Amino acid sequence: MIHIRIITAEEAGPFIPDLCEVLSDCIQGGASLGFMLPFAPEDARSYWQDVLASVKRGHTILAVAQRDGKVVGTVQVGLAQKPNQPHRGDLMKLLVHRSARGLGLSRKLMQAVEDEAASRGRTILVLDTATGSDAEAIYPRLGWQRAGVIPDYALWPQGGFCDTTFFYKRIA
Ligand SMILES: CC(C)(COP(=O)(O)OP(=O)(O)OC[C@H]1O[C@@H](n2cnc3c(N)ncnc32)[C@H](O)[C@@H]1OP(=O)(O)O)[C@@H](O)C(=O)NCCC(=O)NCCS
Repeated sequence: MIHIRIITAEEAGPFIPDLCEVLSDCIQGGASLGFMLPFAPEDARSYWQDVLASVKRGHTILAVAQRDGKVVGTVQVGLAQKPNQPHRGDLMKLLVHRSARGLGLSRKLMQAVEDEAASRGRTILVLDTATGSDAEAIYPRLGWQRAGVIPDYALWPQGGFCDTTFFYKRIA
């Protein structure tokens, strides 16, 4: 049984252990997500506490995918706070646990946060992802337009430069 929900900071507390597990699993699996290996459990907890603080301020939309009650996927939209970008959002941290991939969870998660971002007045979303990753292949299938590639933008978790592809999507 799959359940996708947008959650508030108040609701998110009990989900933190699962969210930490999903993030750690994706990094252990080699995804370039802003972190390096070794990635400790306290690194994950600290990351999610910061996310919840941003959700509480109303700066971030957070969605989770539950399978039989357990969180196995998540995604965020950061709502741009610059006065000249009240219409923009940053799609971030689309994560699906390796045990739950290929079930359509990322498609459902993306639809949920895109709808929520549109309901909050956002009309364009942007994202970046590691060039050559599974995620890079998926975004065009979900209606995202490729804007271009920046070489050596980031590092893979195990080290070594990683090119990054930028995408955008109009949602209204
Ligand atoms: C990217 C990721 C979120 C995909 O999650 P998922 O739940 O397995 O994806 P879905 O099952 O919803 O698939 C979405 C679409 O992409 C397709 N797809 C799935 N895996 C694919 C792959 N490896 N290559 C190409 N297409 C793929 C699916 O067929 C589906 O298309 P369709 O609905 O038109 O049939 C998952 O691989 C992941 O968590 N990766 C590690 C973290 C990461 O890199 N996140 C991106 C950060 S920017």
